[in-house]
Amino acid sequence: MIIYCEEEISTIRKSNQIVAKILAELGKMITPGVQTKKLDEYAELRAKEMNAIPAFKGYRGYPASLCTSINEEIVHGIPSSRCLRDGDIISLDFGVLYEGYYGDAAVTYPVGEITPKAKKLITVAEETFYKGMEQMKPGKRISDISFAIQSHVESQGFSVIRAFVGHGIGLSLHEEPQVPNFGPPGRGPKLKSGMVLAIEPMIAMGDWNVEILDDNWTAITRDRSLSSHYEHTVAITQKGPEILSLSDEEKKNAPYLKENQFA
Ligand code: MF3
Ligand code: CO
Repeated sequence: MIIYCEEEISTIRKSNQIVAKILAELGKMITPGVQTKKLDEYAELRAKEMNAIPAFKGYRGYPASLCTSINEEIVHGIPSSRCLRDGDIISLDFGVLYEGYYGDAAVTYPVGEITPKAKKLITVAEETFYKGMEQMKPGKRISDISFAIQSHVESQGFSVIRAFVGHGIGLSLHEEPQVPNFGPPGRGPKLKSGMVLAIEPMIAMGDWNVEILDDNWTAITRDRSLSSHYEHTVAITQKGPEILSLSDEEKKNAPYLKENQFA
């Protein structure tokens, strides 16, 4: 488990700000008729323009720069010639390597007009991230984050996917510790100032069982219910958590951050 110094965190912040910018730009492109491979091409191009390397392409053989997971797809959806349709929801997961440090974040966007229940799913995934993040104070333990995430999702009538975890990040895309999205509180390593974690709840309308498609990447809900993913890279500071992968503009507008004081 790596404790990063302030200089390193400032580079991890730069890397994550590139991710934040590209995810926001992709959000403006989300509309019925767009092919997911166009989103992937755009993300790769913009990363290169900002002197960053897409982090996922080639990672364990993953074939694209962006993950595009539609509807019942949970994570690791591979961009293709498939077109977005009115009423879909799409999770975009993107990461880059910049000046030796990684950034990683994910967001779920609506395509055109979606049902109120789908809207709620997206909102709850985002709220759930913040519930987990609230636990990121020196002295708490990893599974305090896990417990807060599971409790919130289930209190809202949804289920939390158990097959994937959040993770340490910085010099590598995935480093120790793993951050499960469910489980009892008070377990696992103690949180310390200087730790950097990607917190990434994945939630579903139905149950939490998953299946992997024949492409060996795309994870879907076994019951084919809708799924939403929301992820940020967060640094633990003496003052509490700092989200590295949100732009200042987004921080101003995030409903949860308006009501609560964080670093
Ligand atoms: N945010 C995801 C993760 O942390 C993205 C990984 S996609 C992969 O696992 F292709 F790189 F595996
Ligand atoms: Co991640």
